Amino acid sequence: MALLKIARMGHPILLGTAAPVARPDAPEMRRLVADMRETLADSGGIGLAAPQIHQPLRLFLWHDGAAVQALFNPVIEPLGEERATAWEGCLSIPGLRGLVERPARVRWSGLDEAGVPVSGEAEGIAARVLQHENDHLDGMFYLSRMPDLGRLGFVEELARAMESRA
Ligand code: NI
Repeated sequence: MALLKIARMGHPILLGTAAPVARPDAPEMRRLVADMRETLADSGGIGLAAPQIHQPLRLFLWHDGAAVQALFNPVIEPLGEERATAWEGCLSIPGLRGLVERPARVRWSGLDEAGVPVSGEAEGIAARVLQHENDHLDGMFYLSRMPDLGRLGFVEELARAMESRA
């Protein structure tokens, strides 16, 4: 296994549309998922999309609240009209957090590491991670989902502001 280099905002790999994966159970995909798991664990994040580690493939890892799951060729659809606003960060935009509005609940589907169709529903942080990572497969950052770019800040400054408010 190996730690992978994470592309930062500005790298063109993060702006493209990723390609579907024909064989999630191929040996090179197993290796890639293993390396992505190691990279995500090392980074302390809760999601990682393949374009972020320079692979333009429709694949991401996401934390479902209990464990990190790999999802190939994902489809994410909003469930209902309710929207939720919360702070997000991104391993490709280190040091920053922004307030992002998204559908509160989603239905997700795709293929797991064995190439088997999987699906489910998610809400809360899990729904947010699924949407954030899926956006990476279409070249989009959370910044584009922010209703007010004034609510973007450096982690240290935001933490300081929270402290002074408490
Ligand atoms: Ni991200």
